[in-house]
Amino acid sequence: MSVVKINVLTVPAEQREVLEQRFASRAGAVENSDGFEWFELLRPVEGTDQYLVYTRWRSEEDFKAWMEGPMKAAHQGGGEGGEAPKRPAASGSTLWSFEVVQSAGPKA
Ligand code: HEM
Repeated sequence: MSVVKINVLTVPAEQREVLEQRFASRAGAVENSDGFEWFELLRPVEGTDQYLVYTRWRSEEDFKAWMEGPMKAAHQGGGEGGEAPKRPAASGSTLWSFEVVQSAGPKA
């Protein structure tokens, strides 16, 4: 059964662009990881200042393996291309964990 891990990032309005740029520059950081199934960066439209980093994995074990290895590389320093660490755009983060109970896509 797949698992969904959502990292919830609180981002002040004036930092949105910085955050999105940083994610854009990490595109591809997760796609080749074992057990990776899906990623979406979700920008809040109303009611919250929290971005959701939606990820879905084949199993809890695959997610853990990513967290312990590739994830660290993907997040190193917060700066691009090995630059010195930058001030994070997000002012806080929380990890939510879910199991997929049911899912659907469009009919072929
Ligand atoms: C559910 C899995 C993930 C977890 C637990 C996680 C964890 C975190 C945390 C804790 C931060 C805040 C760091 C800080 O404030 O300094 C962060 C920021 C960030 N993450 Fe992730 N992350 C996940 C998935 C991803 C993926 C898949 C990507 C790339 C495609 C990514 C790219 C980034 C980037 C670019 C930032 C910088 C945001 C900033 O400047 O504040 N993350 N992540």
